Amino acid sequence: MSANKKLLVLPGDGIGPEVMREVRRVIEWMDRRRHVSFALEEGLVGGAALDAEGSPCPDATVERALNADAVLFGSVGGPKWDGLPFEKRPELGILRLRKELGLFANLRPALVLEPLVDASSLKPDVVRGLDLMIVRESTGGIYFGEPRGVETLPNGKRRGIDTEVYTEDEIARVARVAFDLARKRTGKMTSVEKANVMQSGRLWRAVVSEVGKSEYPDVELSHMYADNCAMQLCSRPKQFDVIVASNLFGDLLSDLAAALTGSLGMLPSATLGAPDSSGRRHALYEPVHGSAPDIAGKGIANPCAQLLSFAMLLRWSFGMEEDAAMIEQAVEKVLAGGLRTADIMGHGTARVGTSVMGDAVLRELDKLAA
Ligand code: IPM
Ligand code: MG
Repeated sequence: MSANKKLLVLPGDGIGPEVMREVRRVIEWMDRRRHVSFALEEGLVGGAALDAEGSPCPDATVERALNADAVLFGSVGGPKWDGLPFEKRPELGILRLRKELGLFANLRPALVLEPLVDASSLKPDVVRGLDLMIVRESTGGIYFGEPRGVETLPNGKRRGIDTEVYTEDEIARVARVAFDLARKRTGKMTSVEKANVMQSGRLWRAVVSEVGKSEYPDVELSHMYADNCAMQLCSRPKQFDVIVASNLFGDLLSDLAAALTGSLGMLPSATLGAPDSSGRRHALYEPVHGSAPDIAGKGIANPCAQLLSFAMLLRWSFGMEEDAAMIEQAVEKVLAGGLRTADIMGHGTARVGTSVMGDAVLRELDKLAA
């Protein structure tokens, strides 16, 4: 088979390289067993790039990401780089990639798998069967708004400034991604802001309503203040299907939704750009979890979120639904069989490390492909 699928792998820092190793094994498995080959490149990002090249997101990495069909991202950051000036922070690695590739729609599914119902901090009945999708705007809002910085006032006191700013086009395009998803799912969508206190929130609510009315009258749209949404996610999460939110609110709510599922170690995400005339779009896939410096290098990190991010990549960038579903099923079967990494331990389960988890996923893949 021709290796026409160009994949850029950016393991980054902390547990990133460890969990990415398990994806590499699945990629090799696909080559062998499914006759699917990727043209694989590996690049530097985050602290690893800072150490090697003095920048958390070197131009060469951006260049290669622009040329790839899809980017598989690990995680960035760690205490080693904590004291650095703001422009050198490893986190800028992911922020620059989102911006330069125009990846404005960050899809963060939160799915409670049956074997993990007990791993959630909420009662089983509250989370059993939970399946929601947070669509987070990811190239605008307070993450990038100007003015920003820390200035010194005439009285010698410092003032820190960030700006929440959204144009109606930025709101409308991410709303459309969420509406399209809602249509394919249960036809329900909740738009989240704080229109009660923020001007950009008022505009957000107005624009989402307009797009809904004129283009998606079949989708049942509701609006919710972000604080209320956080509360509702903890008390009655199953009322939601698709949630669309700004960069900052989406960041907060997606960590919260992750906790509902039992562990950040389970959740994948996709960040998509706008399709061009041929339907091709830039896309980056990454776990919702961070670099987890406290457990890095110990071989105990959960590789599931990274594996499931690769499954999302197959589905969204290459339309390989069957292979994506196979990886998702393999992960679920391993969990159902009782193997667990430390973050998702439950009663009567066996604790294993990253690579044993990877071995088990490969065994299940073998069975599924047989
Ligand atoms: C995320 C992370 C990032 C963000 C950090 C690492 C910059 O928290 O992807 O949710 O805030 O977007
Ligand atoms: Mg976050």
